[in-house]
Amino acid sequence: MEGLLATIYAAFARYLAWGLALCLALASSPPSEAATALANAKSTFIESLLARMTVEEKAGQLLMRFAEAEPPPQIVLDAVAAGNVGSVFAHPAATPAQLRTLQQHAVKHSRLGIPLFFAGDVVHGRRTIFPIGLGLASSWDLDAISVSARVAAREATGDGLDMTFAPMVDISRDPRWGRISEGFGEDTYLVSRIAATVVRGFQGELGARDSLMACVKHFAAYGAVEGGRDYNSTDVSPLRLYQDYLPPYLAAINAGAGAIMTALTSLNGVPATANGWLLRSVLRQQWQFSGLVISDHSAIEELIVHGVAQDGAQAAQRALVAGTDVSMNDRYYLQTLPGLIEQGQIEVELLDDAVRRVLAVKYDMGLFESPFRRLSGSHGAAFSNAGLALYRAEARHVARRTLVLLKNERATLPLKRQGTIALIGPLADNSRDILGSWPANGQPSQAVSLYQGLRTALGDHAQLLYALGANIHDNPPAFDLLADNQVVLDPRPPSALLAEALAIARQADVVIAALGEPRGMSHEGASKTTLDLPQQQRELLRALKMTGKPLVLVLMNGRPLSIVEESQWADAVLETWFSGSEGGNAIADVLLGDYNPSGKLPISFPRTVGQLPVHYNTLNTGRPFIKERPSKYKSRYFDLDPTPLYPFGYGLSYTTFSLSSLRLSTHQLPPGQSLQASITVKNQGSRSGETVVQLYLRDRVASVSRPIKELKGFRKVLLAPGESRRITFTVDQTALGFYNQDLQWITEPGEFDVMIGLDSQHLEHARFELLEASR
Ligand code: BGC
Repeated sequence: MEGLLATIYAAFARYLAWGLALCLALASSPPSEAATALANAKSTFIESLLARMTVEEKAGQLLMRFAEAEPPPQIVLDAVAAGNVGSVFAHPAATPAQLRTLQQHAVKHSRLGIPLFFAGDVVHGRRTIFPIGLGLASSWDLDAISVSARVAAREATGDGLDMTFAPMVDISRDPRWGRISEGFGEDTYLVSRIAATVVRGFQGELGARDSLMACVKHFAAYGAVEGGRDYNSTDVSPLRLYQDYLPPYLAAINAGAGAIMTALTSLNGVPATANGWLLRSVLRQQWQFSGLVISDHSAIEELIVHGVAQDGAQAAQRALVAGTDVSMNDRYYLQTLPGLIEQGQIEVELLDDAVRRVLAVKYDMGLFESPFRRLSGSHGAAFSNAGLALYRAEARHVARRTLVLLKNERATLPLKRQGTIALIGPLADNSRDILGSWPANGQPSQAVSLYQGLRTALGDHAQLLYALGANIHDNPPAFDLLADNQVVLDPRPPSALLAEALAIARQADVVIAALGEPRGMSHEGASKTTLDLPQQQRELLRALKMTGKPLVLVLMNGRPLSIVEESQWADAVLETWFSGSEGGNAIADVLLGDYNPSGKLPISFPRTVGQLPVHYNTLNTGRPFIKERPSKYKSRYFDLDPTPLYPFGYGLSYTTFSLSSLRLSTHQLPPGQSLQASITVKNQGSRSGETVVQLYLRDRVASVSRPIKELKGFRKVLLAPGESRRITFTVDQTALGFYNQDLQWITEPGEFDVMIGLDSQHLEHARFELLEASR
């Protein structure tokens, strides 16, 4: 009876607060007053709830518990009813009905009826799978990226989720790290723009039914793990941290991200989850972030293994004091916080603050108003049978914009719809790996392989032959150690697979080799010491080259590979990353010329692993290497060209573009003002196409060494044959600023280079002076 009364009371209190908030908001006309009224109503609601919570219930709100994809066991339901669970990390296959059962236990059976929120990894799609992060970034198309995030949010909220552990905005310059696939590349500016776009796309209008709260990750600098070895330490100078690694997280926060996830790694000696400088000084004080901080999976327990806590209680204490609000699937908060408070080892105010933030995100998600809003099934039949209702047109549109043409000699591409085409390789008729890592609820049976895409696109116009050619990898024992290791290997010996492939290649007019990596190779816990294609695949490509047939290499992979020889053997090379549910159709569109490729690399392709890190925006050093004038005592490797094989920003089209007439609106820029840099881009070919015009800046002399170039703007433009267009970029003070040695954001007067190009290496130059304040 008491439980029932509490439920009624809780529900009444909920609706009273919401009603009050709405009345106040409507009563006052100016928007700022309405916003203040809403904020006050929220705070009143949260404080009154907090005041009624026991310490145990508060600790319960800080636990995010994992729920398997099966009817929730009684033990979990009991924990929810006891108020010992605040949120649920849902297995990708958990159904809305299962989540609903959990929510019913929270709302109807727990003392205060506080709803759960449900979270999961929706990284590049939920059911309709879009290209992986590196692919999305290759589009340089924020509208397309926004579409992918919005679709993901609709499908994920239709499946009952309130939050996604995404976007992953870790800058990485080390392709040995398998998780480089999830991010958006090496460049701070590009990644920051994409981070903000994805957050807005996921969240839409916060609180709406199809709003998926973003939990940006992994704070901070997880992508800088030493040696590219996953979970290894990161040690990044404060200047580089502020300048290169932190801005994407800040961009996501400024775009409204509701939550942030700590990295599993230590940063400059202190694990991120216990790093008070990072979580309190930077995140809360400098950035004024008021959202939720969630630990990565079991990161609090791992503080013991990191060697900064001797037991669970100390781990929990360090994490909470540092500013980690929620523990993901980690027992110590719940087990030890009440005791620590009782013994006076933690101020209850600290616990209250963390709980306030949990309640606040639930409030923002609209869960107090309607706890079943994303579990009601009211998204319609399309969502309960989503396999039949994928957003295929959107997935194909986005995927084709992410494909990067790296080489195209003798106009090998586009292919003609005639004759005989041999499609060979372990990724040719593979609808599993094409989904990439973190495929959420994406089903291989619903994904289009390249073979299927080409088959449909060719119809009766050309003959399509197929052979596997080689197994996808040749190191089963190593592969068994990967988190995602489900590949089916052909038991035939490599020689038999090769012979079969060569037999069909010899019958063909052109050969397409679809090679690369299984998706599990570019994933969490999948770091590698080489960037080569697996040996059997390399041998296959070399043998195909020997047939003398025109050879197209279609790459599917989640990291830059070192393909110096492969790029020489092939006449054309198309980088397709892992392109998602509609990948096969999108790649066929490009191979057959139905879509003119427009992707540009968001990350440099090294020649060899020994060159790492390779990125375009390096410092000049005191002894820079100049390719045209090589000499001794320069910053280089004596045994190899230090430049990348393919640079950042690079990608070809079936047409060619030229740039001319770079002009600045002024060469003397008064402080605080902005200037315009404009250039003419022309399509010189005979078919329409898109390219990305890229603006780079260099501060020539400053109090700290500044990079030789930094991306500060880009524009993707579509031009008809022969068409030219003037593109204008505004260069404002933000683009000129940087962090000095005291980590203050400043601009300094002096000369700046303006460089505009269609990749980061071939650039038109101009120069201006930023004037002193007194002049
Ligand atoms: C990963 C996170 C992920 C979490 C939940 C962790 O191992 O580092 O990126 O969101 O698991 O799946």
